[in-house]
Amino acid sequence: MDAAMLYALRDPAGIPSHPVIFLVLGVLTWALHIAAVQVMLGASALTLYGAFSRDAHWRRLAAAMITTAKVAVSVAIVLGVAPLLFVQVIYDPFWYTSNVLSARWVIGFIVILILAYLAMYAFYYRNPKLASQPTRSAWQMVASLVLMLVVGWIMHVLSYQMLLPEQWMGWYAPNGNINPGGQALHAYSITRFAFFILLSVAVVAAWLFAYRRYLMGRPGEDAGYIAWLLPLAHRLMLAGGVLAVASGALWLATLPEKMAWFATSAWVWASAIALLAAAFFPRLLGNKLDQGLWGYAPFALGAVALIVVAAAREALRFVTLLGSHGYDALDYKINLDWYSTSLFFITFAVLGGVVLGYLLTVAWKAGQTKGVYTPSPALTRLGNLSIGLLVIWIVQYFAIGFYVWAR
Ligand code: HEM
Repeated sequence: MDAAMLYALRDPAGIPSHPVIFLVLGVLTWALHIAAVQVMLGASALTLYGAFSRDAHWRRLAAAMITTAKVAVSVAIVLGVAPLLFVQVIYDPFWYTSNVLSARWVIGFIVILILAYLAMYAFYYRNPKLASQPTRSAWQMVASLVLMLVVGWIMHVLSYQMLLPEQWMGWYAPNGNINPGGQALHAYSITRFAFFILLSVAVVAAWLFAYRRYLMGRPGEDAGYIAWLLPLAHRLMLAGGVLAVASGALWLATLPEKMAWFATSAWVWASAIALLAAAFFPRLLGNKLDQGLWGYAPFALGAVALIVVAAAREALRFVTLLGSHGYDALDYKINLDWYSTSLFFITFAVLGGVVLGYLLTVAWKAGQTKGVYTPSPALTRLGNLSIGLLVIWIVQYFAIGFYVWAR
């Protein structure tokens, strides 16, 4: 596939802002997406382990982690849409071709995700007292975890097929016979997928440090349970660090020839340093983990490490498509649209800040209160402001739409 053909597949209308904005936002939002995915996968695995255990602490952890997992799925889905939008804007020739070549799986993705989520909820409803009563229908949680991994596998294949335009014709018309069915998943890298999935162990360990610190802020919490969580989080972090380095090394060792440059690039070194720093950080903090906000620091540093990994993953795609196929994602035609660009950033900063700030503060404070929680007058005002801002947003959205339509 030559560069001219790839450029011909671009949207002739151009894009509404500078491509670098889409590139950077794609990296940042994908890092958040994969963080939520990894918390979800890790929490699901801990739920399953706890559900099969008789130990009281494990059972309590299972009950907490199923709640974490079901929230993390919705966060992962919402934060999956953002990189989906950005990738299809600047890499549309690649993303759409990859999707069309596996069209049935792209549609199946939604169905499988719904089934996975339903299975998780079914397990949750079947086990309202997981901490104290025997586990019922554990198979539902197993099914959920397996189906979530299938969903991730489909996303992996779509991302990977993008990088191999030289093989598209062979997949579309094997031996010259056109097959437009989209039944197959054509290309994958087990080691790359394993790396992103196994990172869940370290990410959920970082999550456990934060969970533990959060519980310490609650009046009358079980000190035995809080103490039990600490070595577990440390062990998981160590195992997660080893798994990340080992699977990452395997991925690099199995890169196809045109991507081999990546293995020795500064991107890989930066990622390795960031991941190792995140893995050793809790050991370094020691007793500080119990003080102030330090208990949350491993998760914060983990998030930074994931951003570095996401940037490296993007560099692999950008440089491969530029170097081997002559496609420069940054020379997209710009058709500047100030309204949509400013609407995006204002929505993100103002609405995102106020509404999310309100919801998170309420959830945080309610979780740290015994009995019924009553928000302060200031927080209630923030809630009212959130509703007001949402109403203004909806009104301006339709007003502009009608204005443009009527012009
Ligand atoms: C809930 C289960 C999910 C799992 C386990 C999962 C996992 C993954 C993994 C492992 C990757 C990286 C693939 C690679 O680079 O090799 C990925 C990429 C991606 N995921 Fe998810 N994902 C899930 C759900 C979703 C959902 C619901 C969406 C969208 C609504 C989504 C959107 C994306 C996008 C757009 C990418 C590629 C971004 C890019 O290439 O720039 N994912 N996902």
